[in-house]
Amino acid sequence: MDEFKYVDGALHCEKVPVRALADEYGTPLYVYSAGTIRDHYARIRSAFSEVDATICYSVKSCHNLSILTLLRDLGSDFDIVSGGELRRVLEIGVAPERIVFAGVGKTNDEIVEALKVGIGWFNVESEEELENIARLALDAGKVARVALRINPDVDPKTHRYTTTGLRETKFGVDIERAKQVFKCFRGRDEIDLAGIHVHIGSPVNTIEPYVQSMTRACALIDELNNAGYGIRAINLGGGFGAHYDGAEAPFASEYAKQIQPLLANRGLAVYLEPGRSITANAGILVAKVLYRKASGEKQFLICDAAMTDLLRPSLYGSFHFVWPVDPGACAVPSARSADIQLDGSVLVDVVGPVCESGDFLAKDRWLPSIEQGEYLAVFSAGAYGFVMSSQYNSRQRAAEVLVDGRNAKVIRQRESYDDMVALERL
Ligand code: LLP
Repeated sequence: MDEFKYVDGALHCEKVPVRALADEYGTPLYVYSAGTIRDHYARIRSAFSEVDATICYSVKSCHNLSILTLLRDLGSDFDIVSGGELRRVLEIGVAPERIVFAGVGKTNDEIVEALKVGIGWFNVESEEELENIARLALDAGKVARVALRINPDVDPKTHRYTTTGLRETKFGVDIERAKQVFKCFRGRDEIDLAGIHVHIGSPVNTIEPYVQSMTRACALIDELNNAGYGIRAINLGGGFGAHYDGAEAPFASEYAKQIQPLLANRGLAVYLEPGRSITANAGILVAKVLYRKASGEKQFLICDAAMTDLLRPSLYGSFHFVWPVDPGACAVPSARSADIQLDGSVLVDVVGPVCESGDFLAKDRWLPSIEQGEYLAVFSAGAYGFVMSSQYNSRQRAAEVLVDGRNAKVIRQRESYDDMVALERL
């Protein structure tokens, strides 16, 4: 699963005790394991090796430059959704043709920049967007390589806010309409409309929705190719699950076992856009307990991390396993699951300092009793954690540390109050 383990009653990230990191760099603190990222990337690569899939790491899941560099060095390509993400990936020297650019609302500036640098693929989400890209490509004297994102109308059975494959969502072009789009844009020299892109949602912890969406996408590709459109690529997006509550996500090899046969031997280049399945279990958020407060049966653990550091519980009601960093040998959890309740544990809500009742990291959990000043680890926070943080309540964004074996380095400094006001000084 990952390289966050309790050794002699103390949480370690690889070979480094988490307490030492929190003492040295302060809290709230994101801690990432390089070994876990390498391991997850390698598993996906090898699972989809039969179709020689190009892995485009989804930058939005965790966009720190050092994490991107780690993935670059593993040979990853990149999936971006904004000019800001383009900048990050170019900043670390990735060749632009190894970048795919998705998103429903690309601006002219973003498109022009992507054309200028020679982006690999635009994943296009509407006819108006395609017309706009064609016009801007013509102006720039470039040819835009395009995959049309289709909406397969498949239910990924995940949170409704992160469901993207159903027709009622804003994503992609209806599969029935797609043929029409190909017809309309046939013969336009400024676009090379050569791929189909699909992304049904995230996290998708069952494989059947992929089977359904890939079956529909391949049927469309067959139809298009029979009509002479020359589709060369399929991009099946991201969405593979991670382990939040126990070992709930299928392995990459299990997804591949069912998806790969649908794509093999079609002469198509296959692209994947995994984010969470690489980074979620590779990061934790460390918080310090500031105060404890009893309320009836329950205790509030008021800590220094908040919804501003990890929004997922507040926004989606997501489960993140929380446990003391130093519980002592008797209270090491046997699994990271909502069902863990050891003898002598206390019912708690883990909350932050933000002035909203929706500011919580965990609700109604049984935790070993914990003292003021102790550290808590919030697990599986590497994806959509730091990247979704904010300065609400004028809180500084957390620092980030990357551990590799015995080494730890700060990969993002904690924001200072000067950073906070810099852009507002007139
Ligand atoms: N490709 C596209 C076009 C996407 O929209 C996404 C995620 C991915 C790939 C990567 O999906 P992944 O492999 O990471 O599941 N903030 C939410 C997740 C939003 C996902 C948005 N799109 C959360 O915290 O759960």
